[in-house]
Amino acid sequence: MLVLGIESTCDETGVALVEDGWRILSNQVLSQVPLHERFGGVVPEIASRAHVEAITRLIEKALAGAGLTPASAASAVDLIAVAHRPGLIGSLLVGLTAAKSLALAWDVPLVGVDHIQAHIYSAAMRATAPFDLLGEEEVFPSASLVVSGGHSALYASRSWTEHALIGSTQDDAAGEAFDKAAAILGLGYPGGPAVSRAARDGDPASVRFPRTLLEPGSLDFSFSGIKTAVLYHVKGQDSGRDAPLRPDIRVADIAAAFEEAIVDVLVEKLRRAVRREGFDRAIVSGGVAANRRLRDRLERFAAKESVTVRFPDLALCTDNAAMIAGLGYQLWTAGVRHDQTLDAYPMTAR
Ligand code: KG4
Ligand code: ZN
Repeated sequence: MLVLGIESTCDETGVALVEDGWRILSNQVLSQVPLHERFGGVVPEIASRAHVEAITRLIEKALAGAGLTPASAASAVDLIAVAHRPGLIGSLLVGLTAAKSLALAWDVPLVGVDHIQAHIYSAAMRATAPFDLLGEEEVFPSASLVVSGGHSALYASRSWTEHALIGSTQDDAAGEAFDKAAAILGLGYPGGPAVSRAARDGDPASVRFPRTLLEPGSLDFSFSGIKTAVLYHVKGQDSGRDAPLRPDIRVADIAAAFEEAIVDVLVEKLRRAVRREGFDRAIVSGGVAANRRLRDRLERFAAKESVTVRFPDLALCTDNAAMIAGLGYQLWTAGVRHDQTLDAYPMTAR
């Protein structure tokens, strides 16, 4: 079954063609980073306009990548899958409208996909040939941690399509914390990769930033305290966000100490989740799952606690449409059916 997936929840436009939920024939992603860079974050109005400008071109490019044209696609594509929640509403509507139009024009069915659940599914796929798909029996039940620019959430997952939310963030998402810390340190946008690069030459023990773990056993997250601690540490308590860094500050050390604090929290929350649920399997996905330090620490955690921890390939960690097409196929197989009344929702379903 050939599925065309569309992703436009935030600042990446993505279109992919995926066969049977795993064989990626084409995976086009257009990042809007250059447009949002100078604002230090995603500007919703700019994002939706950029999706409008990109989407048709990207659909044609994705089809060409799979050896198809808009004309031949009508008989080749079996299903359209679109990320319809959660995300920026204007951005979501661009992808949804494109998906509905294609479904009508080609007379193919449509299925709406939850973007966060698709991040979890990305761990099942391989980004490059030889493609493969992990079987559900190998993976579930599992604690699933999704850490990205917009979300930090923990789920108890029973299959690729069944996820119960067991923890979420009370304020910033983990990726957002990276982005804000990077802005404070003058490291550019997006912050995750920039902080991670800077941290390579730093000493993680140079400063001990707070690890906000909330009450014992809590699976929720809070990252705003760490961000404020970084701000006060590097600029002084009474200086504003735009004040210069104190002259004795080594950016590499702060980046490493900050990264260590975030990673400590994420590893501890995952430990709590597997213990509470009695699971010995975990999935960690989303943009922050690309973080090298996090992957190393989780590998150590996995070995020590006899938990199997899975991550997506690096190319599938950040937003893409291959994961949308992949999960769309699984939802379809599980009997999910949508039609032209499908709506977009800024918040995730609980
Ligand atoms: O999943 P994603 O592409 O978009 C959302 O769904 O939000 O995640 C983007 C986020 C950004 O906040 C970015 O700073 C973060 O993932 N990120 C990283 C790394 N690469 C991307 N954070 C830490 N370390 C990285 N290597
Ligand atoms: Zn995402």
